[in-house]
Amino acid sequence: MKGSVSKNPAEDMDESLFIEASKEKLSSMVKVKLEHVTKRFGETVAVNDMNLTIKDRELAVVVGPSGCGKTTTIRLIAGLETVDSGKIYFDDEVINNLPIRKRRIAMVFQDYALYPHMTNYDNMAFGLRNLGYSEQEIKHRIHRAASILGIEHLLKRKPKQLSGGQQQRVALGRAIVREPKVFLWDEPLSNLDAKMRVTMRAELKKLQRRLKTTTIHVTHDQLEAMTMADRVVVMHQGSVRQVGTPDQIYDHPADTFVAGFVGTPPINFIRCSLNERKETFVLDAGEFQIELPSKMGKTIVKSVTTSEVLIGIRPEDVKISSGKADNPIPARVDVVEPVGSDNFIHFKVGKGVIVAKTPPDVKIDVGSRANITFDVNKIHVFDGETEKAVF
Ligand SMILES: Nc1ncnc2c1ncn2[C@@H]1O[C@H](COP(=O)(O)OP(=O)(O)OP(=O)(O)O)[C@@H](O)[C@H]1O
Ligand SMILES: [Mg+2]
Repeated sequence: MKGSVSKNPAEDMDESLFIEASKEKLSSMVKVKLEHVTKRFGETVAVNDMNLTIKDRELAVVVGPSGCGKTTTIRLIAGLETVDSGKIYFDDEVINNLPIRKRRIAMVFQDYALYPHMTNYDNMAFGLRNLGYSEQEIKHRIHRAASILGIEHLLKRKPKQLSGGQQQRVALGRAIVREPKVFLWDEPLSNLDAKMRVTMRAELKKLQRRLKTTTIHVTHDQLEAMTMADRVVVMHQGSVRQVGTPDQIYDHPADTFVAGFVGTPPINFIRCSLNERKETFVLDAGEFQIELPSKMGKTIVKSVTTSEVLIGIRPEDVKISSGKADNPIPARVDVVEPVGSDNFIHFKVGKGVIVAKTPPDVKIDVGSRANITFDVNKIHVFDGETEKAVF
């Protein structure tokens, strides 16, 4: 039996992870902290001096581009990888050397990792049987989890007889019955079709609220991160770029990477020089100038390392001006993308493009000319060199 399923990543979990762990009295809930954690694979620094605290009971979503170190981070927390340096804590206890089976975590994988030859019930029971639980206790836990997940009627079937979304629920059920201290979910939705993903992300969020178990969910999908998270952890090249609520991440991105990573269509960046003329501050983009309120100008001047800045303006903050406006920017309509609820209008401004998100009833022809404007209060300003937010 084992030979045929040896590639199943859940096997590590089933064989050892919970054997001692789940027999302990359920104390549940834990804060997870990473302190200067580094993990290398040969030349590759997968996780680079990472500092992160996940609060007790929170749903933290780690998001970032492919290869930025998300999976490695949660594998380190699970104990499936060992750190090269730094410390990992569960509450105040350093767990670097705690065997995986004592960490009381439960992982859910992208490919579900269910045993195909077992019924869904047996898949959920497998780990608990290994732990020596009575069949009565196992039945009780499985039925409770199955009822939360709405899969009671599927327990007698095998995984192959289920849809992707249903298989994902079974995989979640298998994690829930173990009553872990921490859930680690590694892209559990990415094999589902777009509609199912939207349904399941709401369900996962509800489930986490109900179970109140500290959860680290990994995704490369910024929208999934923003819609699910209590707090979003944005990773890039092995490090944390910013941790914050979805609103903080969206409204106050710490740098150009974070600003560009969240939001659809993405934020517009424009390189400008910041000029000071007699107490007035002007952003000069070449094609257009924007006069800044003097308080804003003074704050920016104090923080920047060069007079070059990058301004970021979100598409919904780009307005088409009808008549007189401050700082009008002459533009020509290049592309109109109707997406039903909005129109995305690509304006050519000089050699660059600025995208506006407008209500669907805004009709404007390709090739026509218009003035666009930004509300200065909505402009994000980044240092031209460090790309860190300065306003
Ligand atoms: N076992 C390994 N051996 C060698 N390199 C590895 C190993 N695991 C990960 N890496 C490398 O470490 C880096 C981080 O990988 P990781 O799997 O953590 O990224 P990720 O953010 O989960 O990416 P994805 O979104 O594609 O799943 C990558 O450059 C990857 O190639
Ligand atoms: Mg990964």
